[in-house]
Amino acid sequence: MLTEYVLSDADFTAISSLINEAAGITLQPSKKTLVYSRLVKRLRATGVDNFTSYRKLLEHDRAELTHMVEALTTNTTSFYREPHHFQHLEGYLRTQILPAARAGAPVRIWSAACSSGEEPYSTALTVLSAFASVPAADVKILATDINTSIVEKAKRGIYSAAAAERVPLSALKSHFDPVNDQPEPAFSIGKRVRELVHFRTLNLQGAWPMKNAFDVIFCRNVMIYFSQETQSQLWQRFANVLKPGGILYIGHSERVAGPATALLQNIGPTTYLRQTGGRS
Ligand SMILES: C[S@@+](CC[C@H](N)C(=O)[O-])C[C@H]1O[C@@H](n2cnc3c(N)ncnc32)[C@H](O)[C@@H]1O
Repeated sequence: MLTEYVLSDADFTAISSLINEAAGITLQPSKKTLVYSRLVKRLRATGVDNFTSYRKLLEHDRAELTHMVEALTTNTTSFYREPHHFQHLEGYLRTQILPAARAGAPVRIWSAACSSGEEPYSTALTVLSAFASVPAADVKILATDINTSIVEKAKRGIYSAAAAERVPLSALKSHFDPVNDQPEPAFSIGKRVRELVHFRTLNLQGAWPMKNAFDVIFCRNVMIYFSQETQSQLWQRFANVLKPGGILYIGHSERVAGPATALLQNIGPTTYLRQTGGRS
């Protein structure tokens, strides 16, 4: 398997600490084979002939550091992943948010670590369904990810027929357009859905420039890559940017921990309610 190049423990450790600094991602030694297979193409692309030269290149080449982060992040996602979140969201929007939205209150949702867009677009479809009676509601879905290439893909909003299979037929008919210029059958996200979603590149480890608090945050299947300490800090930051009464959805194998547990009450599977209370 590991034949073309040698990834020594020292090079693996150096690369691990660079990605930890850049993206907060913790790489266990068990990930060595994965790191090798993901980075081999970067060695070929940059023309360096061993991992030691590659990690030295990373120390001063910011663009390559970005390529390295993109190569090592996992972008697995799907439409309506963990469907119970979207069922909960639909009920929450209808019962808790609709009256205020009808009266003109802004509704703000954040898909943090949105990958190729299936999560925020599923959210937009849920909003359109829940707010069918308030077509002019002021709703914005912010969708962010550290990986600029995946954000560009998300913005294009074109998905294979296989990916779109998870979308209910009625939503597919109303909010997707068939695309004929792709090698395989595909669908493009329709205008009404696109208008709700605003994509940005954002590293969760850095500053968050958003000024207003959110009604709902999705932060799913990214915390698993971070250390316990980083997770604990991020849960607190999410609690701080959620409106009291707002909802946080997290990944199926994740759990809110640390001081944020005082502010985020677990109200269902991987679903948390922001309690009334101060920011810290
Ligand atoms: C497995 S995907 C999860 C996508 C979606 N939330 C879901 O659950 O289907 C993890 C995403 O986290 C992003 N990511 C990793 N580290 C990040 C960081 N420090 N800041 C923002 N996004 C990050 C990756 O680029 C990737 O798109």
